Amino acid sequence: HQARLTLDPAFKVAPVRRRTFGTFVEHLGRCVYTGIHEPGHPTADEDGFRRDVLDLTRELGVSTVRYPGGNFVSGYRWEDGIGPVAQRPRRLDLAWHSTETNEVGVDEFVRWCRKAGVEPMMAVNLGTRGLAEALDLLEYANHPSGTTLSDLRVANGAKEPHDIRMWCLGNEMDGPWQTGHKTAREYGRLAAETARAMRMIDPELELVACGSSSSSMPTFGTWEAEVLEETYDLVDYISCHAYYQERDGDLGSFLASSADMEYFISSVVATADSVGARLKSRKKINISFDEWNVWYISRFQDAGAPQDWPVAPPLLEDHYHLADAVTFGGLLITLLRNSDRVTAASLAQLVNVIAPIMTEPGGRAWRQTTFHPFAQASRHAAGDVLRVEPDSPVYETKAYGEVPLLHAVATHSAEGTTLFAVNRSVDTPLSLEIDARALGGVRIVEASTLTDPDVYAGNSADEPGRITPRANGDVEADPLRVLLPPVSWNVIRLA
Ligand code: AHR
Repeated sequence: HQARLTLDPAFKVAPVRRRTFGTFVEHLGRCVYTGIHEPGHPTADEDGFRRDVLDLTRELGVSTVRYPGGNFVSGYRWEDGIGPVAQRPRRLDLAWHSTETNEVGVDEFVRWCRKAGVEPMMAVNLGTRGLAEALDLLEYANHPSGTTLSDLRVANGAKEPHDIRMWCLGNEMDGPWQTGHKTAREYGRLAAETARAMRMIDPELELVACGSSSSSMPTFGTWEAEVLEETYDLVDYISCHAYYQERDGDLGSFLASSADMEYFISSVVATADSVGARLKSRKKINISFDEWNVWYISRFQDAGAPQDWPVAPPLLEDHYHLADAVTFGGLLITLLRNSDRVTAASLAQLVNVIAPIMTEPGGRAWRQTTFHPFAQASRHAAGDVLRVEPDSPVYETKAYGEVPLLHAVATHSAEGTTLFAVNRSVDTPLSLEIDARALGGVRIVEASTLTDPDVYAGNSADEPGRITPRANGDVEADPLRVLLPPVSWNVIRLA
């Protein structure tokens, strides 16, 4: 197969947004406990944070981290997680049928963020709670001092305000599984009033209204319209959440999952803009794609929730293989391609729970296959996102009809140009010709590929480097050409 694309610095989409490389830490399974936090672990620091996980988080190139949920947040009382640890209550977590010990709360999380060099992004509970508790949390977290709540934070050891800029107004409120699930109107009103009051404390906050939990929700489209009719002037973002898995052995459709993500994004942009037009507003609402990943959700649904309310049980511990990483890379390409309107995103999640980083309690930590596309894109995407308009053969998929074999995006800065490309073919290499004349005399300085003859091979604690990017020697200089192996994620750097 042959494909072509053109790199031209004039074809700018938008700046690369650092917030595209956000992730998510939820009080779910072993994400917090034995994930980021494990006081008895050999690498634990003075705060009980695992240094091995901190190192991998930095290597992953994470920008923001959303916290504390997820479905968890819709039953969460933030005050349970502050003050002396020994006195913190243990609570039932209805979302994951677990016991929450509250050993980690907002102060510990922000401390962890500072160590990891990431920006915290906080969600407020609009399920079992509402406006008053959201205001209390905001005052506790961000007000410098001189009020009971801000002085309490200072007394709890955080002298400086946490200065959390991004706030999610609830989580997946369109989902019947959500504690305190609401109709779009009910949620829209509550989100609007919460946003209005939060802005009375700080008008500069960046606020995210809940959009749809997937593009297949029965309320998809009307949900966004009704929520934005209530909140348009008060929020900056509408959220999107999407998870994909291979179903019924249909690898071709799975590798094309980003087709759904493209549809999702363009539909939400159109819906938001149509609300804006009806309101005669020039303001644009952007997308916070604050949960996205490959997730074998049917395995979780088949297993069911734990019945005995365990503490930090192993939940949603998907082990990713090569095809997952390539599909994942395709999703990342789609997020980057839409950087004009997708200006924030959070990979769900960071550690152990559908995560790029895995740990053993008390033991090793390793990189899953999906770690690599994320880390490479975060490291090398710089400057502006370029439209590349690939000319590619197509293939037929059951789920999405005809889909191009090549999925690609490029970024360009003074330091160079990087092309991120996926070959979705399950059996045939793709010879990609790159027209880079507009860049003037560039050459390939590095070409790497993530691929394997066994598309279902993955990494483990015993074999952590089984799937890792390797140099791609199949390159030609004139014309510029790279051979992309079947089922592969590729990074090609030009300078
Ligand atoms: O990321 C796992 C779960 O997926 C989150 O808690 C929820 O928001 C979504 O349904």
